[in-house]
Parts: sequence; structure tokens; C-alpha cells
Amino acid sequence: MPPRTRAKTDTAKRTPTKRTGRRAKPAPTHPYLGGNALVCGDNLDILRELPDECVDPIYLDPPFNSNSNYVAAFGDKGSVAAQLRDIWRWTVESENSHQRLREGKLLNAINAVRLVSGETSPMASYALFMGQRLAEMHRVLKPTGSLYLHCDPNANWLLRVLLDTIFGANNFQNEISWLRSQTRSSISRRFRRAHDTILFYSKTAKYQFDGAYKSLSETSLKLYNREDNRGHYQLVPLLVSGKRNGETGLPWRRIDPNERGKSGMHWVTTPDKLEQYEKEGRIAWPQKNGGAPRLKFYLEENPGVPVNDFWDDVAFMSSQSDENLGYPTQKPLALLERIITASSDESGLVLDPFCGCGTAADAAAKLGRGYLGIDVSAIAVRVMEQRLASRGGKATPVVYKMGWEDYEWEVFEYRALMSRADAEDGTPGHAWAEDKVAGLLNAVPNDQKTGDGGIDARYFTEAGEIVPIQVKMHKGQISRPDMDRLLGVQTSLRNQRKKAPMSLMVTLYPPREQLRVFAAQQGHVTLRGERYPKMQILSVQEMLTAGERPKLPPVDPRYFVGDTQTRLSAL
Ligand SMILES: C[S@@+](CC[C@H](N)C(=O)[O-])C[C@H]1O[C@@H](n2cnc3c(N)ncnc32)[C@H](O)[C@@H]1O
Repeated sequence: MPPRTRAKTDTAKRTPTKRTGRRAKPAPTHPYLGGNALVCGDNLDILRELPDECVDPIYLDPPFNSNSNYVAAFGDKGSVAAQLRDIWRWTVESENSHQRLREGKLLNAINAVRLVSGETSPMASYALFMGQRLAEMHRVLKPTGSLYLHCDPNANWLLRVLLDTIFGANNFQNEISWLRSQTRSSISRRFRRAHDTILFYSKTAKYQFDGAYKSLSETSLKLYNREDNRGHYQLVPLLVSGKRNGETGLPWRRIDPNERGKSGMHWVTTPDKLEQYEKEGRIAWPQKNGGAPRLKFYLEENPGVPVNDFWDDVAFMSSQSDENLGYPTQKPLALLERIITASSDESGLVLDPFCGCGTAADAAAKLGRGYLGIDVSAIAVRVMEQRLASRGGKATPVVYKMGWEDYEWEVFEYRALMSRADAEDGTPGHAWAEDKVAGLLNAVPNDQKTGDGGIDARYFTEAGEIVPIQVKMHKGQISRPDMDRLLGVQTSLRNQRKKAPMSLMVTLYPPREQLRVFAAQQGHVTLRGERYPKMQILSVQEMLTAGERPKLPPVDPRYFVGDTQTRLSAL
């Protein structure tokens, strides 16, 4: 039995040998295209900055429309938390984006989803979000490139519609099923869902593809039971059934294939090639007269079993797994290695516009490809930076797009905000900061600052209550009178029957302990079965670095402008 290690079966390590003369890496035409860039921001904005046909391949693992939020903590004592929102609503912003879409197939496809799922349904909102982004991805993908979209049964139907519309149904290559779990949950009212779907589209018919191979089975390995100085081999026939008129039907070395078998045979290759095999000593001649020569086929030549579209051999991410970083929705490195190896060579620049904790970027770096990872979560980008550094490489540039400027992580702790005396549009820096904080919380800035006790913003709940918000963005600590004033506003609103059951103070840096105690002493209010603190105090720094959020009842959908994580990165 030959040793297993001799088979070239590891897809990750397999080099794309079929192609010769690698293309040189093109000179970057944009700072993000240098080959090791991470960018924090909304991928739609970042994609719009990129030139046409500059990346290849693209892998994306977007939110799936799972109607849930994921929260996870990383680092020592859970010092950093990520909150991924995957709940969709048709908002004023959706309406505006929809109106800005040009007439054409994409708009028709999105409208078709709206017709089927409801004009303002979550599915409609998701289709709009994905449609706009997939169109940009198609634009930036090279003609030789492919796109792999990772999804699950919640929205794969609509993603197929969008991809067929944008890429063309003729460029659809595969719907890959990846077995992602093997838990044996108890019987429910449907079959257990155990796979994700990966939709594979090429940009054109000239796309690069090397396939993938998996290990040979024990039974196949046992066939290589002969050995010479070149290694383990098995003997395979050189003559196969059926007559041929071409070169493979000609006699070679006094053997006429037409006279063999019941109704004639032919050679598996041309006489030239047979001659070459003979010179190389690879042909085993039979001992007895009339026997057929056979070819020595070496184990080393066998790349493994070609992988089909059902992937049950990529170990899924378990909580015990070494590579598990605790990032919600993290995918296994081997999955990305298979995709990247199949669809790129070392000149490739892998784009993952929903990069999460950076599995695609990590796989690209491991395989010697360039990468551009984008994520809207600053925490995800921070985790990616550390992950890639531990592979020995430094991602450059790492850019945090937060409004008008690119900030480094060091200045991300919001200090930059206060150093801004006046914003570019002439708004005083302080008002700018208050607006941003209001946006972060889905609250409405109070521009007039008259009436309502001079509060900075109001948060409207879906049940019609108001939460007054005071935003104190100066560098020093706030004091007890600031808290008293806010409490006074809350009480006066309540007295005016404006239903203000709670209030919120937002500071730049974490407040003194006495102020937290004061807030806690105000007690709780129970609304629709849920307990909320009557007064909360929270700093922007805690929101940015520890992912903390105030506890508030659901917002009135009319004022929902995006999830807090998105707002955070937009600050
Ligand atoms: C399913 S996770 C990706 C997980 C990733 N494949 C991994 O292995 O870690 C989806 C990611 O998309 C990010 N995201 C959601 N909306 C985004 C947007 N508009 N722009 C960029 N990233 C976004 C989320 O922050 C989240 O990290």
C-alpha cells in the first residue's frame, strides 16, 4: 500500500500547473489595489471609488436576510464586541435609493421582488441593497474573473434573479452546496437545514478556472500497488473499445487496434505520444503473445478526485476549531482556499466586500494572492488587521472611512471628532458631532434647541414615546447639574403628556462612576413587558470600542436610518 502523502490531492497546496507564463501583477491604479488593503466602510461607497475591471476573483458572504442580529465578543475579557445586523426594513433611505436607480433590467428585477414579496417588505429592502452592490461588483470584476456569492435558503432565490440579471444567465456556472453542519437536532416539521449555497458566476466565457481536487479514497490508493524507481504506479490500458478512423486507429509497433476486441479498438493517444511513453520506459509489455501493452500511471500524476458541486469535505467551523476567532458567521479557511485556488493564480487580487473577520483575505495571503477586504464594521477590520499580522504580513493600507476623511485606528477613538473646529459644510464641529451621534442612535437631531429644554436629539419609539437625548461632546467630564437638567427635561415632557418614560445622556469619554450611580438610582420603567433604565449614560468611546448600546424600545420605523454598526462606521 503506497504512502498517502504521495498523492497531490491537497487542493490548497495544488499549484495551477496548467497555465504557463504567469501574468505580472499589474501596477495598482488605486491605493486599495496594491494587494493587501483593508477598508472600513460601506462597500457600496468603496466599490464606487474603484476603476472598472480591477479585481479577480470576488467572494462575498453578505448578511443572508436571516432576520436576526449576531453579537460576539473578542479579545481578552470580551473587550471588543461585534454586532451584525441582519434585519431589513424599507426605509426613507431605501425609497430614495430606489428612486435613483436607472430604468433597466436591474430596476425591473428589484421591482419583481417587490411585487412578489411586498412593496416595502424586508425582502424588497434586501434586494435593493444587494442589487446595487452586485452591479458594482460586476463592473469592477475583470473579464477573466468569477464571483462566488455565499448565501442560504432565505434569499438564494432572489440572489439568483439578481445575478442572472446582472451577470447574464449564460455566465451562471454552479450552485455549490456546502455542508456546513452535521448536528442531529430532533425531528421538527421540516428536514434539517444543513447546507449553505455558493452561487458561482463568471463575468464572461473566458473565465479562469482550475477546478479543485480532493484526496483519493483508500480503495483508489490501493490500486497503485506497483513500484519502480519513479514511485508507485498502476497499469492502465492503452487500448480501449471502438474503432477510430484517425491517428488513434492506426497500427503502432505491429499492433493493429482494429483487429483487437470483439468489434475493434483504438489507442488512448496518438502514435507520437505512445512513442514518447515508450522512450520514457512507461509502457509495460505483456509476457504472453497477443497481450496488450499498458501504461504505467504514477500516483504523483493523479491530482485527486475532481470536486463536484456538493462540498461535504470542507470541515465546518466548530467552536473547538483552532481557527475560530469567535466572529459570528466566520467561514473556514479551507473553503476560501478552495475557491481562490480554483479561480485565480498568483497574479489574482481577491476582493471580499463583506469581509467579516477576514477569512478570504487570510486565504488569499496564504496562497500568495493579493486581497482587498472591506467591512462596514470597524471591529471586523481591527480583527482582520490582527489576523493578517499573525500570518506575518501587514495589511497596508488599512483605511477607516468615516465621513469625509480616512482615519487611522489610533485616532478612531473619536478624538478626531473634537479636533474638528468646523466641519467642511460650515457646521460648527460640536453641532456636527451631535448630528452624528443622533444618526448613530436612529434619533432625530433637535436643530432648534428651543422648547423641549434645549435637548440635542429625540428618539421616537414605535409606540409613540419620546426619549430626550443630551449629547455632551466636550473633552472634560460632565457634571451632576448636566444630569439634573436632563432629568428636568424628561419630567417636563412627561408632564406635558409627551410620554417621555426615559432619557439618555451621551458623552465623549466614559463618565465618572458617581454619574452612573446617579443614573441607575432613577430606577426602571416597564414598557410592553420589557424593563428599561429610566436614565442611561453612555460614552461614544464605549460604543466604539466595546460595542455598547443604550437599551431603548424599538424605534419608530419612520426614523430608522440604518443599524447602529453602520452608523458607527460612518461617523
Ligand atoms: C456574514 S459576515 C462575513 C463573514 C466572513 N465571511 C468571515 O469569514 O468572517 C458579513 C459581514 O458583512 C459586513 N457588512 C454588512 N453590511 C455591509 C456593508 N454595507 N458594507 C461592508 N460590509 C458590510 C458585516 O459587518 C459582516 O462582518
